[in-house]
Amino acid sequence: MTLNAMKTLERDLRLSRRELESIVKSFHQEMKKGLTGSSGSLKMIPTYVDRPTGSEKGRYLALDLGGTNFRILSLTLKGRGIPSDKRVMKFALRKRDISTTGKRLFKFLAGSIKKFIKEKKIDLSGSIDLGFTFSFPVKTTGPASGTLIVWTKGFSASGVEGRDVVALLERAIADEKIDNISVVALANDTVGTLVARSYDDKDCDVGVIIGTGTNACYVEDLRNIRKMKNLRRQPGTMIINIEWGNFNRLKATRYDRQLDGESINPGAQILEKMVSGMYLGELCRLIAVDLISEKILFGGRACGNFNKNMAFSGEFVSQVLADRSRGLSGIISLLRRLGVKDPGTEDGKTIRKICSLLAVRAARISAAAIFAVITRIDPDIKKRHIVAIDGSVYEKLPGFAENIKSAVSELSGVRTGKIRISLTKDGSGYGAAIIAAVSSAEGDTK
Ligand code: BGC
Repeated sequence: MTLNAMKTLERDLRLSRRELESIVKSFHQEMKKGLTGSSGSLKMIPTYVDRPTGSEKGRYLALDLGGTNFRILSLTLKGRGIPSDKRVMKFALRKRDISTTGKRLFKFLAGSIKKFIKEKKIDLSGSIDLGFTFSFPVKTTGPASGTLIVWTKGFSASGVEGRDVVALLERAIADEKIDNISVVALANDTVGTLVARSYDDKDCDVGVIIGTGTNACYVEDLRNIRKMKNLRRQPGTMIINIEWGNFNRLKATRYDRQLDGESINPGAQILEKMVSGMYLGELCRLIAVDLISEKILFGGRACGNFNKNMAFSGEFVSQVLADRSRGLSGIISLLRRLGVKDPGTEDGKTIRKICSLLAVRAARISAAAIFAVITRIDPDIKKRHIVAIDGSVYEKLPGFAENIKSAVSELSGVRTGKIRISLTKDGSGYGAAIIAAVSSAEGDTK
């Protein structure tokens, strides 16, 4: 391992406590801009959803679109506690499903609903309400309507940006001749996660996803959402979808700039491109390619897969960091599978170092963002805050959750005991059912 090159990399990727504090400060400024409606990198989208009371009941369907799988759920809410009678089906999304036309994508969703109803024997004799988790930046226009602002996470289906995604779903459901399903709620996965957790725990006021993409939401006072002029003087709260993946006031390396320039959405989702599972592997690959060209890695021999875009996945980063063996046998065999000829222990160490620097940076950026959200709600951290968090990176990347927690403690000092960051699995789908219940109840009282 050539010391100088690695030292430079380390210097560029490390974030000191002071740098984290400066991220928190600029995050606060961007949040404020987003709430007033002036342009900035945080969209701060009002969701028309508040936390549930915990007494919501009934049978619901939920759809969850936004990661590597599309999921359909049916469940019965009992008023607090774990829902019963949960039936779930997962459908893997192939590249061609997400980069086709919007019409085909929504036809695929409706076709999957049809399969689900048949295979899971869902009774549609009375009508059933459905919550739709659609995890992309959506300009919400009401509890069950919103237009897609822009695709993220490599999705590119044509003719969807600028359109109401609930209307597209309803049309596709009608085309499949599925009767008796009404789409009553549209939610983001972060909102589903927050809602699912707060169904049981009133202290939960932040929802975070760190998976294929990344984002967060939190509970804001209506009077602070200045851009919603009609709500300004009303008491109460509403969940705000921050869309933090687009935060851009971060120190970027030339690899970050290269990745951004070669992506399908240059200039957008800068934080997401440093943090989320979709990009961590690619960043590692770009650094590796550079080190190969400087003859620091693999004896300077270019090798098949390291030259292919996106060939080093986020899962590989997890596999690399999970290898605790002395001889790095897991990493070496992964490198062989990727077409590297005779990788040595030094190569393994270099790859491990790159993955570890990238993973620690991602965790520290996430921690600064989480801390910024908590201190936006409660600047002196007087109350307890539960941060409901989910996503493959948070759950599976070795050391990631611990690194977030320790950076949050670094920032919060003695107040750290008030903050709990807690894994909330599958809340994105389950939360959509709860939001559907809230929305149906509101519909009934109107
Ligand atoms: C999307 C968000 C979503 C996040 C996590 C981002 O790419 O813009 O809406 O919440 O991914 O799935």
